[in-house]
Amino acid sequence: MSLLIAVSGWDEAPWIERFRALLPEHRIVTLGEPFDRREVHYVAAWKPPHGALAGLPNLAAIFSLGAGVDHLLNDPRLPDVPIARVVDADLTQRMSEYIMLHCLMHLRQQRLYDHQQREKIWQPDYSQAAARDIRIGIMGMGVMGQDAALKLNQLGFNVAGWSRTPKNFDNIQSFSGSEQLDVFLARTDILICLLPLTDATRGMINRPLLQKLARNGRLSGPILINAARGGVHVEADIISCLQDGTLKAATLDVFEVEPLPSDSPLWTMANVTLTPHNAAMSDPDFVAAQIVQNILRLEAGEDLLHQVDRGVGY
Ligand code: NAP
Ligand code: GLV
Repeated sequence: MSLLIAVSGWDEAPWIERFRALLPEHRIVTLGEPFDRREVHYVAAWKPPHGALAGLPNLAAIFSLGAGVDHLLNDPRLPDVPIARVVDADLTQRMSEYIMLHCLMHLRQQRLYDHQQREKIWQPDYSQAAARDIRIGIMGMGVMGQDAALKLNQLGFNVAGWSRTPKNFDNIQSFSGSEQLDVFLARTDILICLLPLTDATRGMINRPLLQKLARNGRLSGPILINAARGGVHVEADIISCLQDGTLKAATLDVFEVEPLPSDSPLWTMANVTLTPHNAAMSDPDFVAAQIVQNILRLEAGEDLLHQVDRGVGY
């Protein structure tokens, strides 16, 4: 019985090492070497090349090496077997660190003070807002969204969330569905995207949506943080909204094309902070252990944990 590691864009060596140590009874194979396709029962994948997982007649399950599964579901030749994704406290904590960092950075105007330091300008803002003055709106109240909401709430921000299905949390206002989206946007100063990329969310964060954000907040203009997927936003709209003041600033970890092309204006815009899709990176120690636990469950006849609903795409 084999586990196939099918990874592109990441170093596969740590994954091979962890899975070999944790699954000594299984053969661990990779796309870069010859292997018997009939022997493969499991795949652990991150952005596998399209078609690479077709023609595995005994495949029982595919494990995403990350939280998102758009990189699998966009393969027209993906085998029709159960898919499990990563739901992991370490990954969730890393995302919340990123979200808290960037909310606080925008609140406390750190990019302005970076500039002032370089120019040797001593100029405090005597009207600095406090976290309680800022209305944060999180699109996507799943594993990542809920944890970030809780931690932002503990920092003192006024937090609301928007999801597909209704939710009920202490101290966090909940909105759901397209009918409540506009009300949610109208009370939001910092919009955070933690939505999965699906047919329903593709291109959702566009100019018409950004124009609905609050314009009466303490930050003198709305701010966007997207740490989910670039396919959920329309980059040309974000750029033009940043240029004409519809958006005051943006933090972007994810892009329509990755790596971000060198001719993208986003690289050099003063009101943009960008990071190379590393808001929350999968740690092979935690993630391989979770996948192995799931494989052992399957082999014991138990249900797969964190199974994806292919119908809704996440
Ligand atoms: P999750 O638990 O599946 O949560 C997804 C949330 O989005 C749920 O609240 C869901 O609503 C909501 N949603 C989905 N489709 C929607 C729609 N059409 N309208 C409104 N709400 C919708 O996912 P997660 O673990 O929190 O991860 C979220 C995403 O973060 C991943 O899919 C991945 O793309 C991204 N991510 C990025 C990084 C990075 O480093 N940049 C790292 C990890 C994850 P319901 O609650 O009603 O189902
Ligand atoms: C990273 O982008 C993930 O989906 O885990």
